[in-house]
Amino acid sequence: MAKIGLIGGTGVYDPNLLSGISEENVTTEYGAVKVKLGEYEGTTVAFLARHGEDHAVPPHKINYRANILAMKKLGVERIIATGAVGSLNLEMQPGEFILVDQFLDFTKNRIQTFFDDSERGVVHVDMTEPYCIELRKIIANAAATLKLPVKTSGTYVCTEGPRFETPAEIKMYSSLGGDLVGMTSVPEVVLAREAEICYATIGMVTNYAAGISPTPLTHAEVVEAMNRNNENLKKLVMRTIEIIPQERKCECQNAIAELGSLGQGKLLS
Ligand code: HPA
Repeated sequence: MAKIGLIGGTGVYDPNLLSGISEENVTTEYGAVKVKLGEYEGTTVAFLARHGEDHAVPPHKINYRANILAMKKLGVERIIATGAVGSLNLEMQPGEFILVDQFLDFTKNRIQTFFDDSERGVVHVDMTEPYCIELRKIIANAAATLKLPVKTSGTYVCTEGPRFETPAEIKMYSSLGGDLVGMTSVPEVVLAREAEICYATIGMVTNYAAGISPTPLTHAEVVEAMNRNNENLKKLVMRTIEIIPQERKCECQNAIAELGSLGQGKLLS
């Protein structure tokens, strides 16, 4: 069992911050998921590379439901996710960490719920605070102790990908209130919420978005920027794990309480 889950995005493919690593193949009704389990400072952590260890899975093909259900089955209560993001907001600069607090969903073709048949019932999960307030505060405190540049809110525009955006799209997203753009936070955050798992994303700004950046974007540029900041990202995750309290006091654990005690049981059965 692991109470903390780590979902590594672009540039974060191995859990070498953990010790005593073992690999577990977790089976779910959506498919099997390879998760690495390891220890850090006496805490068991479950690690999952969102795009696979060789970055072979594009954002629109990630098995989001299997990944989150695998975490749930391992007993995970809190997920710290990392994600490379482009910036639409000149105040959010490459190299900065942003603790995303809202999203705008522009995905097109992704199943966003575990509750899509009559057996489990219908759930309309509340999205007022999609990203756990408590976990975001803990990460912000961890960043402060490390003196890392961090902003504690930002609106994440999730696109379908895998292509990058046009400058016209970026202009539109910006006029709608978007600060950052990426391809993976939805439905990951939504499913975590349905599973009553606290979820926070550490967005790492790798580039200015299309049309803001003076040059065309490449995936290599994103990976290079991630690599430059990888050590800081690891430090931030490790410090967060060090200071995370055992018990959570937030409301994420009651996100689908309207379904009664059966809700989570149905997810795990
Ligand atoms: N667009 C979409 N996803 C991204 C970007 C971007 O500019 N940078 C990193 N991930």
